[in-house]
Amino acid sequence: KNTVVIVGAGSTHTPGIIQSLLQKKEEFPLKKLILFDIDEERMNMVKSIMTQFIEEAYENLEVISTSDYKEAFTDVDFVFAQIRQGGLKMRSCDEKIPLKYGVVGQETCGPGGSISYGIRSIPAVIEIIRQAKKYSPNCWILNYSNPAAVVAEATRREFGNERILNICDMPVAILLSYSKMLGLKDWTELDPEYFGLNHFGWFTALYDKTGKDRLPELRKLILENGMTACSDKHHKDKDWQKTWKQYAEIIKDYPEYLPNSYLQYYLYSSDVVKKMDPSYTRADMVINGREKEMIEEYQKYLANPSEYKSPIQEFTVFGDFIVDAAASIAYNKGYRYLVIVENNGAIPNLPSDVMVEVPAYLRSWGPEAISRKPISTFYKGLIENQAASEKLAVDAYFENSYDKALQAIAINKTIPSTNIAKAILDDFIEANGEYWPRL
Ligand code: G6P
Ligand code: MN
Repeated sequence: KNTVVIVGAGSTHTPGIIQSLLQKKEEFPLKKLILFDIDEERMNMVKSIMTQFIEEAYENLEVISTSDYKEAFTDVDFVFAQIRQGGLKMRSCDEKIPLKYGVVGQETCGPGGSISYGIRSIPAVIEIIRQAKKYSPNCWILNYSNPAAVVAEATRREFGNERILNICDMPVAILLSYSKMLGLKDWTELDPEYFGLNHFGWFTALYDKTGKDRLPELRKLILENGMTACSDKHHKDKDWQKTWKQYAEIIKDYPEYLPNSYLQYYLYSSDVVKKMDPSYTRADMVINGREKEMIEEYQKYLANPSEYKSPIQEFTVFGDFIVDAAASIAYNKGYRYLVIVENNGAIPNLPSDVMVEVPAYLRSWGPEAISRKPISTFYKGLIENQAASEKLAVDAYFENSYDKALQAIAINKTIPSTNIAKAILDDFIEANGEYWPRL
């Protein structure tokens, strides 16, 4: 049985994760569940809304909430880390500053994602992992704190990614949509071939259970009807619908593979900027939309639990994926998932020390990445450019280097000119204040 600590437990993603943990109690039984957050009010709300469901699933499960490292990390088997340093307020700065200069403003892509949020997130994630390893040296850390690509590179340098697995739910969310469009039951019905970086990769084949590649058929479906199934609840609102619509358009121009939807920020930067409102970005939509609605739901439920069946309407792939990944590691099941690992030859013509997103079998001793043939020039060029930007952001953090931070921004494909890179960097330094080291 497993003791799990959810770090960043006050997040509106947490109820979905707990729900998955409860639903999968046979595959991944719990001994104890620990909730950790610096925002105790949010965390305790999440705890209260989940109490009844936990009691229905487990007779006597010990559940604690804490903001103390020792209490959180002593004798744990798995750490699920999903922190957002600076909260949605800082997400808003990451998005708005680049947009001021006509550059993509996005949570994980372009300069706001890789550099502003990256440099802010690194020390926070490192601290969590350090504390976890101090109190439970053998625990596994499943980290999906963003920007995952930059965070994964930083944890590689700091810890060699020993018992750390960096993951992202986006490939799974996309796969779920694909599987629905193909009339399949679930994302686990498709075995993908995929290469790239986090939020920067391509599906090259999608095998169903009979071994047939369904990618060509799916591409036709998307071209004819668009992305008709947007599967999981976190990617369903109007703004994400826009993303899926644009996604269908990329496929026309790049017919070879199926890209991760985030590639639109790099391949159509200026078109995307035209569609963004620099004074009302995704952070505002999340604050005034999903966050507000979910908190209202929680409060309604807490006021009258007997009338509400569940404050969580649907299961999320986010929760299911992390629990399945943990089960695969805990019980050496060898599930094949897309995860972020050190390249080491998985993509033979990329450097070995780049953190890539590829299929891997999850074993109790760690992920075993699948190696495939070299990638062609277009993809190699794009990936090397993006990886350089991410590595430079991590250099900037570890070396406290203004010059490296400037290079990280200037080299990014979303940036038209170095003057703009410099102006954006200077604004980031001011906006991030104490969150950033002094460069
Ligand atoms: C996907 C990505 C996450 C990202 C999220 C943002 O799930 O994989 O990395 O955090 O989308 O969604 P939001 O609705 O908050 O913009
Ligand atoms: Mn992600």
